[in-house]
Amino acid sequence: METLRIGLVGTGMIGRTHIERINNKLSGARVVACADINADFCKKVAAQYGIKAFEDGETMIADPEIDAVIVTTLDQAHEQFVTAAIHAGKYVFCEKPLAPTAADCRRIMEEEIKGGKKLVQVGFMRRYDPGYRQLKEAIDNRTYGEPLLLHCRHRNPEVDGNWNNSSAVENSMVHEMDVLRWLLGENYVSAEVRYGKTTRRADGFHDPQIMILTTESGVRIDVESFVCNGHCYDVQCEVVCEDAILNLPQPANIEVVADAVRGRAIDRSWSTRFVEAYNVEFQEWINACKEGRVDGPTAWDGYACQVVASAASLARDTQEIQKVTYDEMPDFYK
Ligand SMILES: NC(=O)c1ccc[n+]([C@@H]2O[C@H](COP(=O)([O-])OP(=O)(O)OC[C@H]3O[C@@H](n4cnc5c(N)ncnc54)[C@H](O)[C@@H]3O)[C@@H](O)[C@H]2O)c1
Repeated sequence: METLRIGLVGTGMIGRTHIERINNKLSGARVVACADINADFCKKVAAQYGIKAFEDGETMIADPEIDAVIVTTLDQAHEQFVTAAIHAGKYVFCEKPLAPTAADCRRIMEEEIKGGKKLVQVGFMRRYDPGYRQLKEAIDNRTYGEPLLLHCRHRNPEVDGNWNNSSAVENSMVHEMDVLRWLLGENYVSAEVRYGKTTRRADGFHDPQIMILTTESGVRIDVESFVCNGHCYDVQCEVVCEDAILNLPQPANIEVVADAVRGRAIDRSWSTRFVEAYNVEFQEWINACKEGRVDGPTAWDGYACQVVASAASLARDTQEIQKVTYDEMPDFYK
């Protein structure tokens, strides 16, 4: 196959950035068609990129001119289109979360297992960030002994009017839930979410919030989510190992001298902070599809993330520690 022909459903904010990166930056694939429930807007996007617009996502997915599928609709529609791609026997990249609940994700896994072939990849792009990959190599090799504690921070300058008290866990810290499970190579056993003293900038929700996760081997993780810090997008991850402290490398941004301070600039948005991660994620997905395999986060990883997200949500609502309990992993995903 020379060029992987991709159909993308969901031409919203992130869907358009993926069309842009695949058609204008990456190699080996082209988004040749798109679909969206908002048909007029979808036609405009299609015209902008010179691609075909479909009124119905499932018709596009079934089209023989489409080799692989990207799902970037709102979360509630992910299951419908991922399942349609599985039924069509096509590789499908679904933005995170795989689906809103663990039960939805379980149904997707059942369909994938029934089809007998791994086809689904979930968009947990932090696994592709060069800094997290360096951390993982050091942890996997136990270069500095066993990891004991992780201190993480996930800070945003501001959030939109749709943000509510659940969003810190469900939209923001889900990235930590996935990437830290991958980094340590183990599942969680408990989750706790506590409120800090709330900033004057938060309108109707608690901000900051602190999530504490414990893994099977006893590693303790604390994650600060502070989404209205008013100044920058900042992701940090400090791994306390037996023999060293490891810190997530920060992007090589320019040094700024101003207001009698000399320092390195920090991103203002996740879209610039993780742009390289998205590019690597999609290039590797394209290459893997063409070679006939899935080598990124699977439907099982999507399910595992929703299990801990729902435990953390309950922990937040009850302000009590909650157990994290997974189903047994099907052999298909081992
Ligand atoms: N990996 C990340 O860091 C990251 C970042 C942003 C968004 N996302 C995920 O990407 C997805 C899209 O987010 P967004 O910010 O682009 O949202 P958005 O609201 O900008 O776009 C969503 C699009 O989906 C379309 N849509 C909704 N229901 C549909 C249906 N039934 N059929 C066809 N189209 C439908 C909407 O019309 C809209 O165009 C979400 O699942 C979100 O969680 C992931």
